[in-house]
Amino acid sequence: MSVVCIEFKPGLEGVPATQSSVSYVDGQKGILEYRGINIEELAKKSSFLETAYLLIWGYLPSKEELEIFEHDIRYHRRIKYRIRDMMKCFPETGHPMDALQTSAAALGLFYSRRALDNPEYIRTAVVRLLAKIPTMVAAFELMRHGNDPVQPRDDLDYAANFLYMLNEREPDPLAAKVFDVCLTLHAEHTINASTFSAMVTSSTLTDPYGVIASAVGTLAGPLHGGANEDVISMLSEIGSVENVRPYLEKCFETKAKIMGFGHRVYKVKDPRAIILQQLAVELFDKFGYDKYYEIALEMEKVVDEKLGHKGIYPNVDFYSGLVYRKLGISSDLFTPIFAIVV
Ligand code: COA
Repeated sequence: MSVVCIEFKPGLEGVPATQSSVSYVDGQKGILEYRGINIEELAKKSSFLETAYLLIWGYLPSKEELEIFEHDIRYHRRIKYRIRDMMKCFPETGHPMDALQTSAAALGLFYSRRALDNPEYIRTAVVRLLAKIPTMVAAFELMRHGNDPVQPRDDLDYAANFLYMLNEREPDPLAAKVFDVCLTLHAEHTINASTFSAMVTSSTLTDPYGVIASAVGTLAGPLHGGANEDVISMLSEIGSVENVRPYLEKCFETKAKIMGFGHRVYKVKDPRAIILQQLAVELFDKFGYDKYYEIALEMEKVVDEKLGHKGIYPNVDFYSGLVYRKLGISSDLFTPIFAIVV
C-alpha cells in the first residue's frame, strides 16, 4: 500500500488559494486596481456604488444602469421590525461586529435560500446586503446607547444616508463625500482572509447571507480588520509629538509591531494611505485640526528612518482611523464600516 505524503503548510503560508480577476496589486510600485482601473481614478471620479457595480459585474455601469442600481439599493435599505427587535435584545456591551455578524446571518431566515442558480435571486441578495448592512450597523449603534434606530432617508445617497442614520443629523457634504471615498478605498483587495473565508463558505452552496456572516466573522479579528482601531489607541497612548521617538525606540528594541505600518504585499506606502491622508487633511481644513495628526506625521518620519529600508510604510489603517475620528465615528465602529463593503 502506498502512502501519499502531502506537505503541510501552517497557516497556508506561501500557498496560493486562487488568483483574483477582480483586483490587482503591485506591492513594489504601490498600485491598486479594481477591474483594471486605478484606485486614484475611482476615488476621484466614481461614487462607491458605481465602484461596487464595477466590482460585482465587471464593468462601469451606464448612467441608466447606475440609476437602477441606486434605486434598488434605496428600496431595500429598510430592515424588518423583527430584525430590529432581535437586535434590541443584544447586550449593549456587545461588540458591533458581533451584532453585525448575527444580523447578517439572520437575513437568511427571511429570504429564501433555494434559488442559488437564479441570477435574479443572487442579484437581489447582493443588493439587500449592500443596502441593509449600513442600516444594521447604524441601528445597533443607536440602540446600544438607548435610542431608537433611525429610518433610512431616500433623498440621501449611500454615504450621506449612513452618516445620517448614525447621527440623526444630515451630514456636511464634505463629510459625506469623504466617507464615500473611504468606502471605495476599502471595497476590494484581492484574496484577503475574509474573502477567502467567503469563498470557502459559498463553495458549500449556502445562502449569500451565511456567506457574508462568515466573512464578517473573519474580518472581526484584530489581525485583519481591527488595526485602525488599534492605531487610534496607540496615538492616544503616545499623547504628544515629543513622546513619539521614545515610544518607537521601545518598539524597535522589543521588535513589537507598530500598528498601521507594514503590509504583506506593499513594500512602499500603501496607495490607499496616501489618499486617506489627503482626505484627513481636507477634513482638518474644514472642521479643525486633530493633534493626533501631528503625532502620526512624526511617527511616519521616525519609522521611515528606522524601517524604511525593510519596506515598512503606512498601510491603509494608519490614516483611516483619523478620518473616521474626524467624522465623529466611534472607534469600535471602524471594523463594521469596513464590513459594509465586504
Ligand atoms: N512594525 C515593526 N516592524 C515591522 C512591522 C511593523 N508594523 N511590520 C513588519 N515589520 C518587520 C518584520 O517583523 C520584519 O522584520 P525582520 O526583517 O526583522 O524579520 C520586516 O519588518 C519585514 O516584514 P514584512 O515581511 O514586510 O511584513 P510581514 O509580512 O511579516 O507582516 C503585517 C505584514 C501586516 C502582518 C505586519 O506588517 C503587521 O503586523 N503590521 C501591523 C498591523 C497592521 O497594521 N495590520 C494591518 C495590515 S493592512
